[in-house]
Amino acid sequence: MATFSTDALEDVRAWRRDFHENPELLFEVDRTAGIIADKLRSFGCDEVLTGIGRTGVVAVVRGRRSDSGKVVGLRADMDALPIYEQTNLPHRSRVEGKMHACGHDGHSAMLLGAARHLAAERDFNGTAVLIFQPAEEGAVGAKAMIDDGLFDRFGIQEVYGMHNMPGLPVGQFALRPGPAMSSADRFEVTIEGFGGHAARPQRSVDPVIATNHIITALQTIVSRNTDPLESAVLSVCAIHGGEAFNVIPQSVSFKGTVRTLLPEVRELCEKRFHHIVNTVADAFGTTATITYAHDCPITFNDPEKAGLAGDAAAAVVGTDKVRRDLPPSLGSEDFSFMLEQRPGAIIFLGNGDTANIHHPMYDFNDEAIPHGVGYWTELTERLMPAN
Ligand code: NI
Repeated sequence: MATFSTDALEDVRAWRRDFHENPELLFEVDRTAGIIADKLRSFGCDEVLTGIGRTGVVAVVRGRRSDSGKVVGLRADMDALPIYEQTNLPHRSRVEGKMHACGHDGHSAMLLGAARHLAAERDFNGTAVLIFQPAEEGAVGAKAMIDDGLFDRFGIQEVYGMHNMPGLPVGQFALRPGPAMSSADRFEVTIEGFGGHAARPQRSVDPVIATNHIITALQTIVSRNTDPLESAVLSVCAIHGGEAFNVIPQSVSFKGTVRTLLPEVRELCEKRFHHIVNTVADAFGTTATITYAHDCPITFNDPEKAGLAGDAAAAVVGTDKVRRDLPPSLGSEDFSFMLEQRPGAIIFLGNGDTANIHHPMYDFNDEAIPHGVGYWTELTERLMPAN
């Protein structure tokens, strides 16, 4: 296993804190991407390309030999969140209202640390493609890079991701084979009735009553239509309609999210959603306009690749420090778009007892850096052994 000098790890920590102090949102990661590209070039990576998926950066590092023909993608995310940081850390955000509250500062810095090692040692037979993506929050950055030809241009055959996990002790990893994180679909519905005076409801078609019945009926998708042993969430998170206490409004709108862990459950939920909304709306004499958008696929860890990822993590921190049966999460992650294209796995890195991600008191734990950098290099050298 590779070892890293204190100086090398100290550099990664400094990069991480610099990214933390200068958070950028979604695709507007120009400063971060610029620094990453400069460093990748200074490490002597064979190719460094910018502007992939608008502001994504890709570096290619060939091993001492590359006749194995293997090409492995390693992915980190770069963007921060529109959150007012509430920590008083020396490296706290210098940009009001923006914050690295998901640890993408750490993810990018660790993959940079791995890039430097891989470019210096080249102790593998194959090609490592290091992917730094924008706009993970909002779930479109991975897709933008894919649409820009990421997998075909670089011939990537398998792809791996890593995310920090508060609550998991530092020095531990966790993952699971199969569905690891849920799909995220988004719906917006407008129920159109016929407004009028509240005292003469018989002359109106009340969209408030219709909407109430629709929302109640939607709860039966999870409770009555899906297998109780298979997970699904349907949450209506906002309702808007009406202004006055004595006026039946013309229309009411509501919106929310659907999360699932299996493609067939995802399909079922969508089908039932349309059926219930349209038929219940119709029963009350109202009409429904539905927008149902697929934001993010299911994050599916290829069982074999997840096993290899777990083995690499075990080589870094020890077999007993890698949990391989992590329960799936109904959160979503846009790395799922990459895992739709190529087999691979996402692994979680222990961030210790910190505030949760997306919280204003959160901070990426620098103590996790050696494990994260060690994982990336170990994984690369194991997937494409030099001998
Ligand atoms: Ni994140």
